[in-house]
Amino acid sequence: MNFNLTEEHLMIRKAARDFAQNELLPGVIERDEKQLFPGEQVKQMGALGFLGMMVDPSYGGSGLDTVSYVLAMEEISKVDASASVVMSVNNSLVCWGLSTYGTEAQKEKYLVPLAKGEIIGAFCLSEPEAGSDATSQKTTAIEKEDHYLLNGTKNWITNGGTASVYLVIAQTDREKGHKGINAFIIEKGMEGFEIGPKENKLGIRGSDTHSLMFTDVKVPKEHRIGEDGFGFSFAMKTLSGGRIGIAAQALGIASGAYELALAYSKERKAFGKEISKHQSVAFKLADMATRIEAARHLCMKAAWDKDQGHDYSLSSAMAKLYAAETAMAVTVEAVQIHGGYGFVKEYHVERLMRDAKITQIYEGTSEIQKIVISRSVLNA
Ligand code: CAA
Repeated sequence: MNFNLTEEHLMIRKAARDFAQNELLPGVIERDEKQLFPGEQVKQMGALGFLGMMVDPSYGGSGLDTVSYVLAMEEISKVDASASVVMSVNNSLVCWGLSTYGTEAQKEKYLVPLAKGEIIGAFCLSEPEAGSDATSQKTTAIEKEDHYLLNGTKNWITNGGTASVYLVIAQTDREKGHKGINAFIIEKGMEGFEIGPKENKLGIRGSDTHSLMFTDVKVPKEHRIGEDGFGFSFAMKTLSGGRIGIAAQALGIASGAYELALAYSKERKAFGKEISKHQSVAFKLADMATRIEAARHLCMKAAWDKDQGHDYSLSSAMAKLYAAETAMAVTVEAVQIHGGYGFVKEYHVERLMRDAKITQIYEGTSEIQKIVISRSVLNA
């Protein structure tokens, strides 16, 4: 087993850390408070190659491995999880889906600008009545002569207002169940496609989450991704990789909160000494550090599995489950260590605690990860 990072990995981690500290940290509190999308910063992320990290350079990407992606996601999420969810969705769900299953024409037209970060994408699976139960799609795409007619509503769509390209999952033949589902590329501005108001969220408030409404949208047949009936499998395979990105996001939120709590505990004095010298705080820090390290190993294992061409649906579910639970537990403790200061915005940990919550919900709740894991262990 080799736990050493390469020179290239270390350089990418440093570049992401510098970017997060210099470009994301200033203004992160205001963006959270006012729900401002980090538009300028996302452009910079594109220019630095963070939005198409694993896409081949011939399609405008950075051609890096998944381990690099996890390292960059962790650093960016330590500071701004609203920016990192844009990065995660664009890389894992949109670029990966198109680069793995898109036609040459789809790649040229959509993947290249997405991977360069000239535009961003969204992944549209969830519906008002189909969140965890993803096979129960109510959105329909009925096949006509040279197009599909798309009707329905999608909910909780990250990048919903700012994306230019949307990968939309829809039922094309209800009788075939999950084998009658397809994925389509929808462009912003197509007739009949409307974007609902921005959601007012607990966390990741700088990110842009909307409902999307489709009314008789004519989708050209060449916008379908893969063979007829491939849509559910496409969504599941894509989400397996997406879970590595969100696991890394959760890891970053946890490690960001831990680093702040550690530094604070060495400065703040109570009862005649730094609070880090009180065992009640030192033991909290020990637990936080241990959980974070375990989460990091699970993230790296899932990334390594993907890079090696192994099946990573189990390792990504485990990484996502454990890292999300860690993010929640560690951020709560980070607020506690900060005492009253933890409850006010200037100290960042209350935001990290609010941001942590979504990692237990999106790209499959913790309960969904347990379904995936338990099915795997029971069938082993
Ligand atoms: N890879 C490939 N195929 C898979 C798969 C995977 N990881 N998981 C399931 N499949 C296939 C199965 O093999 C099966 O195909 P066959 O019949 O051909 O064998 C088919 O999919 C159906 O599988 P199941 O019977 O297991 O389906 P299910 O209805 O029991 O559901 C589930 C399985 C794991 C619960 C799934 O519904 C699920 O993952 N739900 C959560 C959805 C989710 O994560 N939503 C997040 C929305 S996206 C988001 O949050 C993005 C964002 O904006 C940040």
